[in-house]
Amino acid sequence: AKHLGDELSAVLHTEAELRGRLAELAREIEADYGDEPPLLVGVLKGAVMVMADLARELNFHAQMDWMAVSSYGAGTKSSGVVKILKDLDADIAGRDVLIVEDIIDSGLTLAWLKENLELRGAKSVKICTMLRKPDALKVEVDVAYVGFDIPVEFVVGYGLDYAENYRNLRDVAILAPHVYS
Ligand code: PRP
Ligand code: MN
Ligand code: MG
Repeated sequence: AKHLGDELSAVLHTEAELRGRLAELAREIEADYGDEPPLLVGVLKGAVMVMADLARELNFHAQMDWMAVSSYGAGTKSSGVVKILKDLDADIAGRDVLIVEDIIDSGLTLAWLKENLELRGAKSVKICTMLRKPDALKVEVDVAYVGFDIPVEFVVGYGLDYAENYRNLRDVAILAPHVYS
């Protein structure tokens, strides 16, 4: 096993668990979309790992596009005021869109993004997230595919960062409180 050091207090989901659950979600997605694959929209930067694994797990030809948004301003809490830092390349009018995310925390980013993409005339906009914190939600977000519901802990790895670090951990781990407090 990889040495966690003293900055990570526990592994919450191993790489194998994440990949196994993604395979299950991929089968659901294939069944739901049939032979009309959605455009996969990844939200930079956190969604990079889940996008890479989900896209390769899916048994259809899927196009990928990316957005970068900022919802945290200068603070550490999501403000709900979302700014587009990098927009989609694709015109999504009339298209089925599947947003791919690493985590839904307050839900503010995704609630805003889903509505934004719907207003562009997408045929459908659904969400797939690897992780969700049900007890941290501040707005209701309709999520079609959820990997794991997790407790309200500071988690890193598999794309998730603390101050841009830990994204390349293979597992999802809990950050030790002494690191951020
Ligand atoms: C994180 C995470 C989600 C969002 C969830 O992204 O990757 O995109 O926050 O938070 P919310 O549900 O409270 O809105 P972040 O803004 O940290 O950018 P990053 O993906 O580049 O790390
Ligand atoms: Mn993100
Ligand atoms: Mg982040």
